[in-house]
Amino acid sequence: MIRPILLWPDPALSQKCAPVADIDDEVRTLCDDLLETMYDAPGRGLAAPQIGVLARVFVMDTKWKEGARDPRVFINPKITQPSKARQTGPEGCLSIPDVTADIERAEAITLSWTALDGSTHVERLAGFDAICAQHEFDHLEGIVTFDRLPSHQRQSLEASYFA
Ligand code: NI
Repeated sequence: MIRPILLWPDPALSQKCAPVADIDDEVRTLCDDLLETMYDAPGRGLAAPQIGVLARVFVMDTKWKEGARDPRVFINPKITQPSKARQTGPEGCLSIPDVTADIERAEAITLSWTALDGSTHVERLAGFDAICAQHEFDHLEGIVTFDRLPSHQRQSLEASYFA
């Protein structure tokens, strides 16, 4: 089911999300809804709090706009081993429409997570995949792009967002 995407500054977007204890029907439905809502938006990543569910789940499909769909679900994700190398690139967010912010991130990270079938995975991500995973992971911590900006940049982008 396509769910409404909450818009910043909805308070749900500033909350730290709780780990998923059991992968039950509720979690399976949440993942289906996240993917359907992401593709409909259209976007390349979406986190549970963006549809008002404060659980540590996000979905990603970074390349579907250029080819076939590859829907991926990340439950209880963890990020480790951020590279010293940094990259800065423009990021949008479905919860902050029409705003693009240049955010500095690690160029590569190691992402570990549980999949819908309960299996655990570890993968080294770089480039845009690493940016997208760090962006979606931030949502689970209650952090949006604005929170990553120096205050003067944040002020001017917020001003244009609210204008
Ligand atoms: Ni976002």
